[in-house]
Amino acid sequence: MAYLQTDVTKVTTRVLQNMKLNGEKIAMLTAYDYSMAKLLDSTKIDVILVGDSAANVMEGYDTTLPITLDEMIVYASSVKRAIKRALVVVDMPFGTYQGNSKQALASAIRIMKETGADAVKLEGGEEVLESICRILTAGIPVMGHLGLTPQSINKFGTYAVRATEEEEAQRLIKDAHVLEQAGCFAMVLEKIPAKLAERVTKEVKIPTIGIGAGNATDGQVLVLQDMLGITQQFKPRYLRTYGTFGEDISNAVKQYIADVKSVNFPNEKEQY
Ligand code: KIV
Repeated sequence: MAYLQTDVTKVTTRVLQNMKLNGEKIAMLTAYDYSMAKLLDSTKIDVILVGDSAANVMEGYDTTLPITLDEMIVYASSVKRAIKRALVVVDMPFGTYQGNSKQALASAIRIMKETGADAVKLEGGEEVLESICRILTAGIPVMGHLGLTPQSINKFGTYAVRATEEEEAQRLIKDAHVLEQAGCFAMVLEKIPAKLAERVTKEVKIPTIGIGAGNATDGQVLVLQDMLGITQQFKPRYLRTYGTFGEDISNAVKQYIADVKSVNFPNEKEQY
C-alpha cells in the first residue's frame, strides 16, 4: 500500500484522523532528547511521544511514578527543538492531573507553553474525564491511554496483560467511548488482548495506537530504547527489537578504551 501521508510537512491530529480513515497505519516511538528526536524526525516517523517511561529509561526508576512535571518539561522541550514534522505528544506525569481538573489544566498549560509540544497524553478513562474535558476546553489536544496504565502499577500490582476478564474488558470498551466522546484525538491501548483492541478500534472513530495490543489497532508505539535493543533484560512478548544497539555501544566503547590505553587513538591524522 502507498503511504498516503508521507508527504505532509507537519503531522497534525487531523492527519492522524485521515490516516485512520484511509487505513494507513500510524508509527509512533518515544524520544526524550534532542539528538534522538532529530534522527527520528528525519525518518518521517508520524508521532513522537515524550513518554513518562523516561522515568525508567532515562532516570533508572522501577516505575513511572517519581518523574516530575519539571523533568518532563526538560525532556519535551529538548525533543521539540529537534522536530519539524512529527506530532509531538507529552505524557502528563503521575500526580499532575488525577485529583483536580484545575491542576490538570494548569499542568497541561505548562507543558504546552514551556515545551511547544502539540498535545498531551494522560492515563485512564471515566475517572479522569473531568480533567480531560477541562484540558480540552483550553484547546489542548489530548491522547488517552487505556489497558495497562503504568501510573496505576500500585493498584494492579503487576505489569501483566490487562482486561482478559469480561468485566474489565467491558469497562475498557466503555472507557474508550468515554474518551472518544470527550474529544480525545487518539488513544493508546497498552497490553490488552488483540481481539479486544480490534473491537475497540472498530467501534471508535479516533485512532487507536497499540503496544502489546495486536496488529488491528490504527498504529503502534514502542519505547525507543527497547526497540533498539539498548534496554537490557526487558523482553516482553510484544517487543520486537530492530537492532543490537546496546551491544554495539558496548563494543564501540570497549574499542575506544583499548585504543586509548594502547595509544592507538589519536593517530597522526587526528591531531594538530
Ligand atoms: O510512557 C510511555 O512510553 C508510554 C508508552 C509505552 C505508550 O506511555
